[in-house]
Amino acid sequence: MKKLAVLTSGGDSPGMNAAIRAVTRYALYCGYKVYGVERGYIGLINDEIFEMHSRSVSDVIHRGGTILKTGRCPEFMDSAYVKKAGENLLNREISNLIVIGGDGSYRGANELAKLCDVNVVGLPGTIDNDLSYTDFTIGFDTAVNTVLDAVSKVRDTMTSHDRVMMIEVMGRACGDIALYAAISGGAEYVITPEHPVDVEALAEGIRESSKRGKTSNLIILAEGCTAVRDEISRVVAEKVGKNVHYTKLGYIQRGGTPSNFDRILSARLGVRAVDAISKGENAVAIGIKNDAVVAVPFEDVFKTPRRDNSELYRIANILSL
Ligand code: F6P
Repeated sequence: MKKLAVLTSGGDSPGMNAAIRAVTRYALYCGYKVYGVERGYIGLINDEIFEMHSRSVSDVIHRGGTILKTGRCPEFMDSAYVKKAGENLLNREISNLIVIGGDGSYRGANELAKLCDVNVVGLPGTIDNDLSYTDFTIGFDTAVNTVLDAVSKVRDTMTSHDRVMMIEVMGRACGDIALYAAISGGAEYVITPEHPVDVEALAEGIRESSKRGKTSNLIILAEGCTAVRDEISRVVAEKVGKNVHYTKLGYIQRGGTPSNFDRILSARLGVRAVDAISKGENAVAIGIKNDAVVAVPFEDVFKTPRRDNSELYRIANILSL
């Protein structure tokens, strides 16, 4: 009997459950016996593996988080643990594994494929959208929508009090959450790791625009740029005479019901991941490029340069004038 296991690893992202559901149901349809691994690589090392059925993924498509639980697993940097994880799968005659996670999870998946006789396929589950081989990662769209909701609420206070507001969003070293939310939320300024910020010019811009009658300003700050946060507050206070009111959105960005986009993405990529296993493709990551589902070797994923988002950055800056 063909067997396949699925796990989620790293930070949870909305849509992971929809992806687990797609993988489970399509794999069952293709004649696989399906297994879930609890708590990512930690569960793989500790042999927390259980059989899944169609009903195991009932009523999960709309839920955030991951029914399989997840975790970060530093032990997986050690090949002894990777081999142990592979043995646990092979002892049950499971020679296929689908890993849903981000960059760190893919590195672990690649090691497992190299060191053990297990076919491993990756699905991009992270809110950060920091895997450039794919146009979108599962959870990114929902996270941006969550930020937008918060932006609308913060705007109410911002305009009522004529304030300068700063909202910090997640994304690690990637500015996509900030950039997309800035454009769709109509922010005046966006600060992302990909583009250097001129703090003096930003403060001067706020001062100039207030002369033209603009009384409130919204700055979206990517978490990769928090080093400039205090400087911005200081320079704006000096030049404009206003405090910068700061809100860090934090973990609300990771939770919540996945958007339509993330659910469709999960379905398309999940099905292709099982097809990749059936075709014997190994150490590949599934993604979406120009609306086509693609399979890219992990080694190429790691070498793919950061996507150029300067067009979006330019749009964000022009439309905020
Ligand atoms: O990768 C998703 C993410 O939420 C990042 O945006 C953030 O930097 C990080 O995870 C936080 O990780 P943790 O939940 O482990 O603190």
